[in-house]
Amino acid sequence: MNKFRPIFPQLGGFAHGGDYNPEQWLDRPDILKKDIELMKEAHINVVTLGVFSWSVYEPKEGEYHFDWLEEIMNNLYANGIHTILATPSGARPAWLDKQYPECMRVDAYDHREHHGLRHNHCMTSPVYREKVKNIDSRLAERFAKHPGLLMWHISNEFGGECYCESCVANFRKYLAKRYDNDIEKLNHAWWTTFWSHRFTDFDQIDPPYETGESCVLGLTLDWKRFTTHSTCDFMKAEIETLRKYNRDIPVTTNFMEIYDGLDYQVLAKEVDYISWDSYPLMHNDYESIEDTFLRTAFCNAQFRSMKKDRPFILMESAPGLVNWHGVNKMKRPGYGKLMSLQAVASGSDTVQYFQWRKGRGSSEQFHGAVVDHIGTNDTRIFREVADTGRTLKEIAEVCGSVQKNEVAVIWDWDNRWAIDDARALSNDSKKYEDTVIGIWKELMRMGVEADVISQDMDFDDYKVIVAPMMYLLHEGVGERLAKFVNKGGQLVASYFTGYVDESTLAYLGGFPGQNLKELFGVIAEEIDSLYPTESNYIINSYGGRYEVKDYQEYLRVNGADVLATYEGDYLEGRAAVTRKENGRGSAFYVGCRLDSKDMRWILDKALASAAVELTPLPEGIEHHVRYSDDYRYDFYLNVTKEAKDVPCSLCEDFIASKTFAGSFVLQPVESTVVKRKLTK
Ligand code: GAL
Repeated sequence: MNKFRPIFPQLGGFAHGGDYNPEQWLDRPDILKKDIELMKEAHINVVTLGVFSWSVYEPKEGEYHFDWLEEIMNNLYANGIHTILATPSGARPAWLDKQYPECMRVDAYDHREHHGLRHNHCMTSPVYREKVKNIDSRLAERFAKHPGLLMWHISNEFGGECYCESCVANFRKYLAKRYDNDIEKLNHAWWTTFWSHRFTDFDQIDPPYETGESCVLGLTLDWKRFTTHSTCDFMKAEIETLRKYNRDIPVTTNFMEIYDGLDYQVLAKEVDYISWDSYPLMHNDYESIEDTFLRTAFCNAQFRSMKKDRPFILMESAPGLVNWHGVNKMKRPGYGKLMSLQAVASGSDTVQYFQWRKGRGSSEQFHGAVVDHIGTNDTRIFREVADTGRTLKEIAEVCGSVQKNEVAVIWDWDNRWAIDDARALSNDSKKYEDTVIGIWKELMRMGVEADVISQDMDFDDYKVIVAPMMYLLHEGVGERLAKFVNKGGQLVASYFTGYVDESTLAYLGGFPGQNLKELFGVIAEEIDSLYPTESNYIINSYGGRYEVKDYQEYLRVNGADVLATYEGDYLEGRAAVTRKENGRGSAFYVGCRLDSKDMRWILDKALASAAVELTPLPEGIEHHVRYSDDYRYDFYLNVTKEAKDVPCSLCEDFIASKTFAGSFVLQPVESTVVKRKLTK
């Protein structure tokens, strides 16, 4: 018995489907009928309904229309198609904004927005919360026990900020709680004596308006935390309402790529499954297709790692193209399917699209869909989607299995925000996101997939942790890292680590702060920024010479071994990369920015010391592994346009039902899954 439970056991395999807006076609029963026919042909077994349906559910305050939805859900269910039902809070009917303008957001210039768009409601407005509670209750009352209902989808792509009176009052309350009602604690944490910014009462504090405060870094960071807090609180209120009607229906909310406006780690704790919306800029003119794929694989890893004991959900992806990129390119033949299978390989139990059918008007009329305006099955995209559906059926047994990785890369929202706002380094080359993603991608190229974890997550399951630019440290992280290393872990950290605490106060006594200067055996005395036209080099003891860009630290070594020294500038001959053994493990410190491919020799050492198994593969072949109790499933994706010879030990290709040993040929833009029994 597989102890890893598929997300949707009712489906007997992967979920394949997407956002469906029948409410736009209620006057066209012929089209609604055709939809079912086409869905069956495309192997669709799930749809997401009601994401933005409020104005149809409740066209006038207190007047409800749910019969159409019931008919649709019944009909879908009768045809083997289940429903993920969204709460409609992501967009408000016009009557609501006219009647209750406080539901609309106030921007950072203190202007109330006008009605329109979506995703722009105030998260703290008591009126909006009451209205949402009402519509959610009515929806749940009617549908929470529907046999076709698989999951609740809370709102849509939470994000953004509101500066209205209610949010300001709630911000002050949040701060009073965070600082134990002691304004002096806040003054200390925010270092407000600087420029005479001391407060004597929480009521004096405003959010960081565009025309207001921007230099109290603790304030800006706490505002971001507050925005996450109030969004999460809003989401929790929605979840609580729904659960009253049926506790057994799981909940999720859809996250976005590498969105930095909300600390998703906080929201992740409140939902049963993580889902995300994937819209990479495919076939762009600034990176290789391998890079685009790897960046998306990073996103998959990021979301997977938020709940790594279970699969995640690919909630949305574009069949064909999107309509909101700068240049809207069609996915070239086979690439849509390949990217869908990449999500599955990365641990998703679903492949879902936005959208099932193209609408006729408004701003998403030309966004990709499974069914185009032509309305038939006879399109390249439809055929590819149907083909994806067929493949998902073939590999149904993989469903519910999970990845198990020995390496993790740390990626942390508080740290992202603090780096972004730090008045240090250079404005245009901080590049925290690119740095983390670059290293994650490099590990993949070396043949190892890493999880992507926050600094607060458990380190125990890993053998190697890479922590790039860990500028802000939460309390106790240094100690936990030391424990990790002493027990045998290999830790690789970099320049700009451990400069500030969680209030953004600089550590005294030498960077990296907490106990990390002892753990790494170095003190970073200075950090130097380089102009984009400048570089330095480092040299290691095997004759390797690597270019330094953007940042170089002046390190004082206190007990670490020096692995590389600077070649030039005033740093000539000084330590640039070090390693210190601690207990059974070791801590590497990389004092300068290297291209991620030039980090290889350091990562190699860490991985080798930890005996992490690498799967070296030809360029352009991506490899991911999922595990059930009894089997491992190796996914290989060829993202290039050339056939590749892929080395592989004895295994069984369970799609082609054949066994082979040594290697196999993977055709261009193709993928395969091979299966091996685990030896206990
Ligand atoms: C997503 C959103 C969908 C749709 C899609 C278009 O971000 O959740 O509702 O707008 O983008 O790409």
